[in-house]
Amino acid sequence: METLVLLSLLCLFISGIADAQMPGFVSIDCGGRENYTDDIGLVWSPDNQILYGETAPISVPGENRKQYSTVRYFPADNRKYCYTFGVLNRTRYLVRATFLYGNFDNSNVYPKFDISLGATHWSTIVVSDANTIEIEELILLASFPTISVCLSNAMTGRPFISTVELRQFNGSLYYTEFETRFFLGVSARINFGAESKDSVRYPDDPFDRIWQSDSLKKANYLVDVADGTEKVSTRMPIDVNTGERPPEKVMQTAVVGQNGSLTYRLNLEGFPGFGWAVSYFAEIEDLGPNEARKFRLFLPGPEYSQNTKVVVNVQENAQGKYRLYEPGYENISFPFVLPFAFRKTNDSSRGPILNAMEINRYLQISDGSRDAIVMAGFVSHYGLAQWAQEGGDPCLPASWSWVQCNSDSQPQVLSVILSRKNLTGSIPLELTQLTGLVELWLDGNGLTGSIPDFSGCMNLKRIHLENNQLTGELPSFLTNLPNLKELYVQNNMLSGVVPQGLLSRNIVLNFSGNSNLHEGKGKSKSTIIILAVLGSCLLLVVTFVCCLLTLKRKEKKDFYGSSAGPPSKKLISYFSGVSTQTTHCFPLSELEDATGKFERRIGSGGYGIVYYGKLQDGMEIAVKVLTNDSYQGTREFSNEVSLLSRIHHRNLVSFLGYCQQGGKNILVYEFMHNGTLKDHLFGSLARERNLSWIKRLEIAEDAGRGIEYLHTGCTPSVIHRDLKSSNILLDSNMRAKVSDFGLSKLAVDGSSHVSSIVRGTVGYLDPEYYVSQQLTDKSDIYSFGVILLELISGQQAISNERFGVNCRNIVPWGKAHIESGNIQGIIDPALENEFNIQSVWKIAEKALMCVQQHGMSRPTMSEVLKEIREAISIEKGIDSGGDDDIDIISGQHSRHSSAHLDPLDAPISGPSNLSFGDNILLPSAR
Ligand SMILES: *[C@@H]1O[C@H](CO)[C@@H](O)[C@H](O)[C@H]1NC(C)=O
Ligand SMILES: *[C@@H]1O[C@H](CO)[C@@H](O)[C@H](O)[C@H]1NC(C)=O
Ligand SMILES: *[C@@H]1O[C@H](CO)[C@@H](O)[C@H](O)[C@H]1NC(C)=O
Ligand SMILES: *[C@@H]1O[C@H](CO)[C@@H](O)[C@H](O)[C@H]1NC(C)=O
Ligand SMILES: *[C@@H]1O[C@H](CO)[C@@H](O)[C@H](O)[C@H]1NC(C)=O
Ligand SMILES: *[C@@H]1O[C@H](CO)[C@@H](O)[C@H](O)[C@H]1NC(C)=O
Ligand SMILES: *[C@@H]1O[C@H](CO)[C@@H](O)[C@H](O)[C@H]1NC(C)=O
Repeated sequence: METLVLLSLLCLFISGIADAQMPGFVSIDCGGRENYTDDIGLVWSPDNQILYGETAPISVPGENRKQYSTVRYFPADNRKYCYTFGVLNRTRYLVRATFLYGNFDNSNVYPKFDISLGATHWSTIVVSDANTIEIEELILLASFPTISVCLSNAMTGRPFISTVELRQFNGSLYYTEFETRFFLGVSARINFGAESKDSVRYPDDPFDRIWQSDSLKKANYLVDVADGTEKVSTRMPIDVNTGERPPEKVMQTAVVGQNGSLTYRLNLEGFPGFGWAVSYFAEIEDLGPNEARKFRLFLPGPEYSQNTKVVVNVQENAQGKYRLYEPGYENISFPFVLPFAFRKTNDSSRGPILNAMEINRYLQISDGSRDAIVMAGFVSHYGLAQWAQEGGDPCLPASWSWVQCNSDSQPQVLSVILSRKNLTGSIPLELTQLTGLVELWLDGNGLTGSIPDFSGCMNLKRIHLENNQLTGELPSFLTNLPNLKELYVQNNMLSGVVPQGLLSRNIVLNFSGNSNLHEGKGKSKSTIIILAVLGSCLLLVVTFVCCLLTLKRKEKKDFYGSSAGPPSKKLISYFSGVSTQTTHCFPLSELEDATGKFERRIGSGGYGIVYYGKLQDGMEIAVKVLTNDSYQGTREFSNEVSLLSRIHHRNLVSFLGYCQQGGKNILVYEFMHNGTLKDHLFGSLARERNLSWIKRLEIAEDAGRGIEYLHTGCTPSVIHRDLKSSNILLDSNMRAKVSDFGLSKLAVDGSSHVSSIVRGTVGYLDPEYYVSQQLTDKSDIYSFGVILLELISGQQAISNERFGVNCRNIVPWGKAHIESGNIQGIIDPALENEFNIQSVWKIAEKALMCVQQHGMSRPTMSEVLKEIREAISIEKGIDSGGDDDIDIISGQHSRHSSAHLDPLDAPISGPSNLSFGDNILLPSAR
C-alpha cells in the first residue's frame, strides 16, 4: 500500500510527460508553485512534493523565465537533500541541474556545495556571480528504475537549486563502451558560427541539449582565435541522422579558417581527466569542382602527435554536402586548459571548417554503500514517512539523518536510530541483514511480533527495543552476540524465560515490564517443548520427502508409458534402437485413405513433405513422407521411430505412429491448426493475425518448455538440432509445440557427440557446432536465441536487405543494437508500442546470451525460461515476487506503461568501431 502511494507521488514528476512536448522530458521548477508551459513549449512542474527545505523568490535583471523566479534552498548542515525521479531502466538520460543564486537569502554569501547523482559525486557548485546561471549536465545510462539528484556538503552559504531537468535519449545516442561504469559529465557543448549569443535548445534540439554559442563571452572560453576565422551559415537542410543527432540549426552554422587554421583555447570544467570528445563537421559552403577542404587536428603535447596523421575531408567522409561527419575520441586524456587547432593540408584549397563540438568527462560511478539494497527494502515498508523519503544512497555522499555509516569506500550501516518514529508492524527482516550493525534503536514505537534473528549482525553492541508491543521469547542468539553491551526490552509483551547466558554476562539488561517474562532456573520447560516441537517437525519433513519421492516415481512411469516392465529396461531398448512395439504402425492404405492419396500438401522441409490427413474416427493428422535419401536404411528409420515414441510432452507435437511400407518411410503426427510461428511472424498470416508481444512471450515459453524437456526430461537427453520458427507449430488455442524431430539424435552421455554431418538451418545454426562438429544442447540454445530475436524484431533470421550492407544475419544486427542500448531500433513495428519495454529488454539480453560465440557461455534452457516467465510477469503487470522490480535506491516500484514510450526508432546503424589502440589515438566517425 505504502509503496503504491509513493509511486503515485513520484508519478507527479513523470506526469508532465504525458501532456505536451517530448516524451521522456521532466522539468522541475524548484520552489515553484504551479504547473505551466513555458514559451518554448516545455512543461514545468513545481517541486512541492519535496518535504525538505524552503523556497524563496528571486529577481534577476534580464531574466524573465518563470523557472528562474524562485529557488528552493536547504539548511547548511551535514545532510543531503535529494530529488528522486522515476526513469526507464537501461535508457540513457541527460540530467540537468541549474542554479541561479539571485541573492535569495539577502546575504550575498555565494554558496558552495556538492551535487551528486545517487552515491556518485557529480560536481561542486561554486557560485561566483549572483546573476549568472550555473548549469551542470550529466549523461547516464539508467540501471535502476529511479535516480536521485542530491545536494550536500555546504561549504559556504546554503545549498539551493533552481531547476532539475531530465531528458530521455533515444537509440544509441551517447553510447560509450564505458557506460556501465562511468557517467559522462558535460564539460563543453559548443555551437560554432552561432548567429547570436543565445544557446540553441528545444525545440531546435529535440533532445533539449543546450548548445552554447561560440560568441558568448566568458573567462577562458574560446580565446586565442586565429586571424581569418569567419562565420559561415546556410539555410539548406542538413542530414543529421547519425551518431549523436545534433540539431540541424547547430549544423547550419560553422566557422571556417580562411587563413588556413582554426585555433581555440578553453577551460574544461572537471578536467584534467579522461573524456569523450567529438567534433561535428558538415560541408555547408559551395566548393568548386577542383577544390577540396582537408585538414588535420593538432593538440599540444607529444602524446597527441599521432593524431595529426589523420586527415579530415568533410565532404568525402560524410559522403556528400550538407551531411554530418562526426569523428571523435571515445577515451582521450585532456588537460584543464585545452588549446587545439585545425590546420588545412598543403593540397587543400579551403581552410578547415568546424560546426560544433562536445567534450564530456568520465565520472566513475560509485559502487554505493554495501547495504544500499537492504536499506532500500527496509524503507519501502514506510514509504510515506518523511524519514523514509530522504532518497539516494543511505551512506553516500552523506548518510540519511537516522543512519550512521562507517567511512569505507563502500560503506556499511553502523547504526539505525528510529526511536519514537511511530513504526508499526513487525521488525522488518532487512535490518537483520545489516551485517555491520552496531547500534539499533527502535524504542518507543508500536512494533509488534517477535524479535527477529540478528545472529548475522555480530557487531551489535546496543539494542534498544523498549516501549513497543513485541511478543514471543527473548531469542537465544542474543547470548551469542560477542560485543553486546546493552539490551533494553522493557515494557513489551515478551514472554518465556530470559536466557541464562544473558543473565550471566556483563551487560546492561532491562527486561522489566514484560509480565510473562521470567528469570529461569536451569533447563526450563520451554526448552523441552522446543525439542519436542523440533522432533515432530523432523517427522513431518521425513514423511513429506517420502511422499514426494513416491510421487516422482509415479510421474516417471507416466512419462515412459504405462506398459508393464521396469523403466530401466525400456531405456536400454531405446538405446539399441529396436523397440518399436509400443509405437502404432499404420498400414499404408489407411494413410492413403486419410490423406486422399497424399492430396493436400501442408508443408515441406525437415527431410520430407507433410500432408494433411483425417482418420476414419475424425482425428486430424499431419503425415510426413520422408524423402528416400533421408534414411539410409531401415535401421536408421527404426532408430528415429523409437526415439520419437518415447517423447511425450505437451509442448512437443505428438507423434502418433509410423508406416514403413512400399518403399516409403512415413511418420504420423497430430495436426496443428494454426500453422507455424514463421507464418505468423513473417509469412502469410503475419498481417492479419498480428501477434502481440505477450502472445510472442507465451509462444517462447511453450517452445522453451518443449526444448527444456528434450534437454533435461529425457534420458539420455535429446538435442533437437534444427530449431527454427518454422518448426514451432501453433495449435487451435495458439499454444506452441515444437515439431520436427527428424534431425534429432540421442545425445551420448558424457563426452559430446561427434557427428559426421553438420545439420541444421542457415541462420539458426550454432557457429561453434559448425566449426567443431561437437554437438551439445547449447547448439539448440543458440537457435533458440535466434528465434527470440525474430520474436522481438519480426525479422527473419536471414535477410538480404534488412540488416545493412555487409550483414545478412539477424545476430550481429540485433547484437549491435542491443549492446548500444538502442533496443527500439529492432523492435517489430507491428507491435505498435503495445509492450512494456523492460520485458523486451529482459528477452533481448537473454537472447544475446543465447547467441554467445561459445556454447559454454550460453545459458541453459531452464535459465532462459526463467527470464521468459519474468518478462511475462512484467508484461502482465504482476509482481514476480523477485526483487527485480524494486528500486534499490528508494524501494519504490516503478511501472511504465507503453504510453510513456517514444515512437519507435527507425533502425539506425550500430555504432562504428570506436576502439583505439593502446598508444595511438585515432579519431573515429560515428
Ligand atoms: C500539476 O499537474 C499534475 C498532473 O498534471 C497534478 O497532479 C498536480 O496536482 C499539478 N500541480 C499543481 C500544483 O497544480
Ligand atoms: C536494469 O538493467 C540492468 C541491465 O542494464 C539489469 O541488470 C537490472 O537488473 C535492471 N534492473 C531492474 C530493476 O530492472
Ligand atoms: C589572414 O586573413 C586576413 C583576412 O581574412 C588577412 O587580412 C590577414 O592578412 C591574413 N593573415 C595571414 C597571416 O595570412
Ligand atoms: C581510458 O583510458 C585510460 C588509459 O588508457 C584508462 O585508464 C581508462 O580506464 C579508460 N576509460 C575511462 C572511462 O577512463
Ligand atoms: C606542406 O608545406 C610545408 C611548407 O610549405 C612543407 O614544409 C611541408 O613539408 C609540406 N607538407 C607536405 C605533406 O607536403
Ligand atoms: C502514528 O501512526 C498512526 C497510524 O499509523 C497515525 O494515525 C498517527 O497519527 C501517527 N502519529 C504520529 C505522531 O505520527
Ligand atoms: C527517436 O529516434 C527516432 C528515429 O530513430 C526519431 O524518429 C524520433 O523522433 C526520436 N525521438 C526523439 C525523442 O527524438
